Amino acid sequence: MAVAVSINGELFDEHASISVFDRGFLYGDSVYEVVRTSGGEPVDLPAHLIRLRASATAIALELPSDDELTAATLAALKAAGNPESYIRIIVTRGAGEIGLGTDLARDRKTIVIIRPLKLPARALYEHGIALQIVNVERSSPRAVDPRIKSGNYLNNILALAEARRAGADEALMCDSRGRIAEGASSNLFVVNNGALFTPGLEIGLLAGITRMRVIELARGAGIDVTEGKLLPADVRGADEVFITSSIRGVLPVARVDGNTLAGTVPGPITTRMMTLYQQHLTARAGQ
Ligand code: PDD
Repeated sequence: MAVAVSINGELFDEHASISVFDRGFLYGDSVYEVVRTSGGEPVDLPAHLIRLRASATAIALELPSDDELTAATLAALKAAGNPESYIRIIVTRGAGEIGLGTDLARDRKTIVIIRPLKLPARALYEHGIALQIVNVERSSPRAVDPRIKSGNYLNNILALAEARRAGADEALMCDSRGRIAEGASSNLFVVNNGALFTPGLEIGLLAGITRMRVIELARGAGIDVTEGKLLPADVRGADEVFITSSIRGVLPVARVDGNTLAGTVPGPITTRMMTLYQQHLTARAGQ
């Protein structure tokens, strides 16, 4: 079975279903994580579970224990039997009477979806992707806080749609003050004079697990990393640009707003980070 789904610990195939009254479906009232495997093992699952718990706490949703979440994930992975898998762990507040009050929810559901891992085409790693700085703003930390990985993704869907209309592969969103925040489903890094810069978490963005690893790996390799304020001009004029996410890893950027970046793609520091991240994945696979 290439697709396996666990719902509250019970295994299903791709025909798994949940109630139309589920609040995850009705309102995006859910939290989730996306994890990939390497060597068949989930990569950085503990870090993803920590973030899942932080997201759940932020929306006052109780989670099963880490042991239960891990067991459900491993059982579903085994049932799917793929060489490498995409893992989506979702906890939704559940179904109940229709209405916004969270007290209406009756049956929280923990869902793990396993699919074969599909990585971006090799050509994108060799030649880079196109980024579009979009008009859709990253939501304010005082609205749906971007640090919460919730099922409410319409803002990001609109951002990606705007980028695609402009012929780009990924959107880059700014906050209401015009500072770069993050991609529709990725974090951003720029390279200047051999050093890395990435928007600081205080701007309002998801604390990406890959972002965290890239920062650690870079610092471990003696590459300077600054988390702070970046403006669109800093991205357009950077020596190198790349994005990060659990599925894509480190993916180079070749064009921003239709203009080709000045340097080679992937540039030397991006290439270094791609190698270091690949080694991180391989090390995970050996555990
Ligand atoms: N998305 N920012 C946003 C808004 C994201 O949705 C994601 C990941 C990231 C990167 O985070 P990480 O390195 O932990 O994957 C940043 C996942 C992959 C998704 O929704 O498919």
